[in-house]
Amino acid sequence: MEQLDPAKIPNHLAIIMDGNGRWAQQRMLKRIVGHQRGAETVKMIVEQASLVGIKYLTLFAFSSENWLRPAMEVRALMTLLKKYIRQETARMMRKNIRYNVIGNRSDLPDDINQTLDEAIRKTAGNSGMMLTMALSYGSRQELSLAAARLARDVMAGKLLPDDISIDVFGSYLDTGGLPDPDFLIRTSGEMRISNFLLWQLAYTELYFTDTNWPDFTIDEFHKALADFQARERRFGMTSAQLNRRN
Ligand code: FPP
Repeated sequence: MEQLDPAKIPNHLAIIMDGNGRWAQQRMLKRIVGHQRGAETVKMIVEQASLVGIKYLTLFAFSSENWLRPAMEVRALMTLLKKYIRQETARMMRKNIRYNVIGNRSDLPDDINQTLDEAIRKTAGNSGMMLTMALSYGSRQELSLAAARLARDVMAGKLLPDDISIDVFGSYLDTGGLPDPDFLIRTSGEMRISNFLLWQLAYTELYFTDTNWPDFTIDEFHKALADFQARERRFGMTSAQLNRRN
């Protein structure tokens, strides 16, 4: 296992959990079996992330575009999600983890929303890692809804157009109050962002692995974190400037 520097653990880790379908197809199994195995990886990574000291973990669990999948797969994913939230809430309490959700919750079935509300309420007092599930989430949708809310507030006289700074705009997003991700992991070999956190990923370090999500292990997770620790984050500055600041 890689040796990790506790001083350089990403504060906020975001993950695009991809490749469940391909994992299943390669084994002549139904796609949903891949999602079931993917849910097991979620359990393991949530636990590991909290153990290594990550403060915010954001998982892309269901995109706005995923509604276009066959109805049976969508239903199965919703059932799996509900089961996961229900089963894991007790463990979240033990591990001091808080639930949070981003995305268009009005698209989600009522029973899922109820389960989410209950889990959010129960875990609200926890002070450890915040686990954010992106559900029915699309970044362009989030950005345009934020712009609409801002426009309404300007029209209502609550703020002036000149008040719209980067921080003010950011506070209108679903992620308002969360720090930007320091590190993004995407599994299964696809090298794209797929409408995930477009605004928030401006300075995020990106990591791509060929491993499909159900096969992603603790070892690989540590390898990814070690890769992050070896990077120099300059935020547009030169190396020399950065060294003078540290
Ligand atoms: C990508 O696999 C994954 C998803 C559509 C969503 C992620 C879902 C899970 C990890 C399972 C349940 C989640 C929770 C939180 C319990 P894909 O179907 O796009 O894979 P493919 O690209 O190989 O078809």
